[in-house]
Amino acid sequence: MKTEKKGLTIAIDGPSGAGKSTAGRTLAKRLGYTYIDTGAMYRAVALKVKEKGIELKDESALYQMASSLHITFVPMGEEIHIYCNGEDISEAIRLPEISHLASEVSKKKGVREALVEIQREMAKEGSAVLEGRDIGTVVFPEAEVKFYLDADPEERAKRRFQELMARGIQIDFQKTLEEVLQRDHNDMHRAISPLKRAENSILIDSTHRSVEEVVEEMLKKVEEKRR
Ligand code: DC
Repeated sequence: MKTEKKGLTIAIDGPSGAGKSTAGRTLAKRLGYTYIDTGAMYRAVALKVKEKGIELKDESALYQMASSLHITFVPMGEEIHIYCNGEDISEAIRLPEISHLASEVSKKKGVREALVEIQREMAKEGSAVLEGRDIGTVVFPEAEVKFYLDADPEERAKRRFQELMARGIQIDFQKTLEEVLQRDHNDMHRAISPLKRAENSILIDSTHRSVEEVVEEMLKKVEEKRR
């Protein structure tokens, strides 16, 4: 039986550091919608790959592990914590080593199949904001509202650098910029579900705009759809 949808499905795609998480979280809160950070799910898989020592070439082990993960997003004040099989992994998945590994595991067919299935199940009732790389193109091509959030690479690296510094992780800016460019390249050129703009997506450039301005523009577009 098809699940009755309650509200809209909103997709936010774009490269890392474009501000998808902050904007997505705020947008979901303002609308009273569920927020699903799919990048955090790829990061959770990366963390488990590392902990369990799973070989990246072992597609079947990757699929089995990824499809068995129980992932939940729990709002805590202004933040949303991510739990994986009952453990709070919010901090662990942000380490640079896990960012790199997440980009690697996200190339794997088994991982993508498992996570896309979980994401569709999590948002089947609608009233959801999902952010990632392939939401408007693959996970929910029928989403009623699709945003593509972008920003200049230098600005994205600056935000990432500040975020890492705030977490007490020492890293130099040039290295952060190189990592951002490397991940853009990986995400846009992988064989399966590469990052690209969905044809009917709304492009928002956040380079010179605050989160509030971005969210206001998003809300305006969502309201237009709801009319
Ligand atoms: O958004 P993020 O930086 O937390 O994402 C981590 C990695 O996961 C990133 O390299 C791209 C990948 N990813 C993906 O392939 N598909 C998604 N829907 C979300 C993230």
